[in-house]
Amino acid sequence: MKRIAVLTSGGDCSGMNAVIRAVSRVGQAMGIEVLGIRKGYKGLLNRDFETLTSRLISNTLQRGGTSLQSARCAEMLEEAGQKKAAEILQGLGIEGLVVVGGDGSLRGAHSLHRHGINVIGIPASIDNDIPFTDISLGVDTALNNVVYAVDCLKDTASSHDRAFVVEVMGRNCGYLTLAAAITCGAEHALIPEAEYDMEAICRNLRKRYLEGRSNSIIMVAEGVATAQKIADRIKDCGGFETRLMVLGHYQRGGSPSHFDRLLGSRFGVAAVEFLKAGRGGAMIGLDRASLRLTPFDQVLNSGSHPIDPDMLKLAGVLVS
Ligand code: F6P
Repeated sequence: MKRIAVLTSGGDCSGMNAVIRAVSRVGQAMGIEVLGIRKGYKGLLNRDFETLTSRLISNTLQRGGTSLQSARCAEMLEEAGQKKAAEILQGLGIEGLVVVGGDGSLRGAHSLHRHGINVIGIPASIDNDIPFTDISLGVDTALNNVVYAVDCLKDTASSHDRAFVVEVMGRNCGYLTLAAAITCGAEHALIPEAEYDMEAICRNLRKRYLEGRSNSIIMVAEGVATAQKIADRIKDCGGFETRLMVLGHYQRGGSPSHFDRLLGSRFGVAAVEFLKAGRGGAMIGLDRASLRLTPFDQVLNSGSHPIDPDMLKLAGVLVS
């Protein structure tokens, strides 16, 4: 194997730079040229490539985002775009491709594999909605961001006897909200995977107020409702004054945690090793402490990563 390429696609997340760096470094050590494709599939279709030299990847490990940049690309949803992308890769003599991203990016990777490109996918999305991996890249850093933000809110909330509604990302998945609610000591977590009762939430907030508790935190997954909608609903029921915060894209940025640097580095090295061994058409996942390949077909036809029932149980005891 003489030449491979790597791209980051879809929503960025912290830890993507660790993958790019690892792919480039292990490639260099094996005498393989590694091309970086800028701006995901969009860049691929625009032939936006560069050789990843040591200089280009230096000082990137500690940075959030992706040094190759990312994009969402509607053209890759169409057969014509997928065929064109595969032809470009073949024309450049690229023998293997590493795709780093979430569900949509892995679907693009699968289509390229069907068009004859050997591809390894790496699950990277703060949503943690990808099955066949215990955790996706970027989730740990995003959670640390959410926890930091809510800790700050609790300081100010308790100085004023206020309730805060905090809107958390995750698309249709409530993992980020639930995990953060447990570790922030939130009073309530509203997620798409579980029913909630607004009347009961209001009663509890009222009770807390009457007991003299100084603040309440209600975390809501973006897949359930906007923070504004929930804040409007509870505004008059608690006794607390209510404020809200939409964490938004703040959650996706920032220096990657140790966990995400290590996971990204492991994913990157393993991806090149698998390609060199002729393996592909599959996603690498973390299965307890080990890395495992699962064929794209299986990953993409198994629905979203379910929330661990033990975690729901934990939240049942510790949240609310
Ligand atoms: O998939 C990651 C994610 O951050 C989701 O949590 C969120 O719904 C979406 O991307 C936001 O997308 P965009 O960056 O295109 O606004």
